[in-house]
Amino acid sequence: MAVASTSLACPQYSGLRRSCCPKLDTCSLSISTTQSFFQNVHSHLRLSSSPHKACRAVVTMAGSGKFFVGGNWKCSGTKESISKLVTDLNSAKLESDVDVVVAPPFIYIDQVKNSLTDRIEISAQNCWIGKGGAFTGEISGEQLKDIGCKWVILGHSERRHIIGEDDEFIGKKAAYALGQGLGVIACIGELLQEREEGKTFDVCFKQLKAFAESVPSWDNVVIAYEPVWAIGTGKVATPQQAQEVHLAVRDWLSKNVSAEVASKTRVIYGGSVNGSNCADLATQEDIDGFLVGGASLKGPEFATIVNSVTSKKVAA
Ligand code: PGA
Repeated sequence: MAVASTSLACPQYSGLRRSCCPKLDTCSLSISTTQSFFQNVHSHLRLSSSPHKACRAVVTMAGSGKFFVGGNWKCSGTKESISKLVTDLNSAKLESDVDVVVAPPFIYIDQVKNSLTDRIEISAQNCWIGKGGAFTGEISGEQLKDIGCKWVILGHSERRHIIGEDDEFIGKKAAYALGQGLGVIACIGELLQEREEGKTFDVCFKQLKAFAESVPSWDNVVIAYEPVWAIGTGKVATPQQAQEVHLAVRDWLSKNVSAEVASKTRVIYGGSVNGSNCADLATQEDIDGFLVGGASLKGPEFATIVNSVTSKKVAA
């Protein structure tokens, strides 16, 4: 594994922009230049792991939104194991300045809603594209609201690549869910092959564009950047790899939606986040939280990830 220092080409781009990169506008806003730079290095190099150590005045929260941590339980659990997980979450000490959400499988949402502390909000992992009716096996946004869900995860890579949902379908789902008053955790992310071909930004921007073309407002949207090669593989993106995409996402929002949306919208990272790697990831300026799969099934470890918000404050 080669190691490159951040002094390569555009040193200001990796997590140092507020305090150490006064010339951001001439550097990071030229996405075509930076994109080709990162497309070249993304797949082959790991950038130096702690660039901010050299700079004591790093501001580690670029966006203005509250730290957000979601637990995606996927198709896991039984009544019994979920009851134990809820007990652990209820007794966990969670930092107050974090939005915390868990997404149980549909059939356990009611159980969780009735036993979990109100401190933690509930998300679904999917919903139907429109109003309910004769759609066998589907669950509508209205039903999610009815049962007490505040959020829904849409565009998760497992739904894109295993079930075959496309950008347009996902965008329409997001618009409908938002119209029902649900918050949307909008997932984007590239496959390994796409990263290796230097298409990371193209793929993420295309997925973002589909959301942008559908949603009436970004007020209740959290973007989850989840590189597919990192999901469930134990192969987490380095903090710099994640930061580079998060910054590019924010820059895309700024150029294509508005500066206000770019600042307010949380951009969270997902893909093999655990209790050991969350603190390093959280210090990155444009990482506003996490979407956690496997590690969210363990209450104490999920609490550690929620509480990694403290590493943002320490780093600053
Ligand atoms: P993982 O899953 O944490 O198990 O990699 C993340 C996700 O799919 O949201």
